Amino acid sequence: MNETITILGLESSCDDTAAAIVRAGGDRPAILSSVVYGQTELHSEFGGVVPEIAARAHAEKLDHCVEEALDLAGLRLSAVDAVAVTAGPGLIGGVLSGVMCAKGIAAGARLPLIGVNHLAGHALTPRLTDGLEFPYLMLLVSGGHCQFLVVQGPDQFVRLGGTIDDAPGEAFDKVAKLLGLPQPGGPEVEKAARTGDAGRFALPRPLLDREGCDLSFSGLKTALLRTRDGLIDENGGLRRRDVEDLCAGFQRAVADVLAEKSRRAIEAFMSDAPRQPVFAVAGGVAANSEITARLQTLCAGLGVRFVAPPLALCTDNAAMIAWAGVERFRLGLFDGMDLAARPRWPLDQSQPPLIGGGKKGAKA
Ligand code: KG4
Ligand code: ZN
Repeated sequence: MNETITILGLESSCDDTAAAIVRAGGDRPAILSSVVYGQTELHSEFGGVVPEIAARAHAEKLDHCVEEALDLAGLRLSAVDAVAVTAGPGLIGGVLSGVMCAKGIAAGARLPLIGVNHLAGHALTPRLTDGLEFPYLMLLVSGGHCQFLVVQGPDQFVRLGGTIDDAPGEAFDKVAKLLGLPQPGGPEVEKAARTGDAGRFALPRPLLDREGCDLSFSGLKTALLRTRDGLIDENGGLRRRDVEDLCAGFQRAVADVLAEKSRRAIEAFMSDAPRQPVFAVAGGVAANSEITARLQTLCAGLGVRFVAPPLALCTDNAAMIAWAGVERFRLGLFDGMDLAARPRWPLDQSQPPLIGGGKKGAKA
């Protein structure tokens, strides 16, 4: 278990090109380097991620990213034990760029190749940051993902529920667009919400009336659109106050839905009497302080430990892919040169695939 393993990880499934080196063994795993090149500016004028532009930028940046990650770690490829790469799910052009780059490195340096599921990367991160033991409950909540997972092992996940349409971050981004706020929308909506009145508009809490842990956010966004249009008809435009109140109302509705569905997911998880009751979050939306505060309070009330990895490891990065590579390396789970890029790749193969592709790629 304590054998030292050094893994180079690559990530390019959405709009971040990333490379990282993680070393495991000894007391704690260490992130020797983690380089992320975002693409926000490339896509900003289009109001969403353009897959062709993303794929080209990944292909151009990956080599540099790898070189930088090695330099920062002060290592040469000969010191690396394997190359791990996101092989899906995500935008196919980006995933292909990463897989081809990883195959080139593996073949050239005679290193084993490890294909990693991007969602597994997120889901296993609390083991890298907080040394969690299996099993634990995880909420992945970002611009592309939203699902509750019981993480039972490096390759064993049970999905308790997920979004049937938009991911929450995607909804935050769309709401920002509807209200004339810049992208990415999450931080902007949160900022405007700070001075808003969350109770002024009656926005829905979708799917709370349905049993289970599935979620939906597209109806909430449509309700906000209708409310906005009503205000514009009435007053000939939106006042700053209206924008703040709409943002606050929307954020409160998302927090209400996530808190209630998390309560149900925790209840389902606890019914199996886990050794350590832990609820972990990952994904860009975990940056939202109203949402995390609600989840934290919920966990405190239920006697469950709440774990949120540092934000740089919650959002897309390659350290999580390298770490998932460590976990697979320890199990001897390697891939051959026939490793395929998979735009859709549900973690829990026993569940029906989630609906919804989304601008940032497939949700499972
Ligand atoms: O995990 P991430 O970097 O990328 C993926 O989507 O995979 O998450 C980005 C998403 C964006 O949709 C962004 O608007 C959202 O996370 N986000 C937030 C906040 N910060 C980022 N949503 C709500 N509140 C925030 N403070
Ligand atoms: Zn992600």
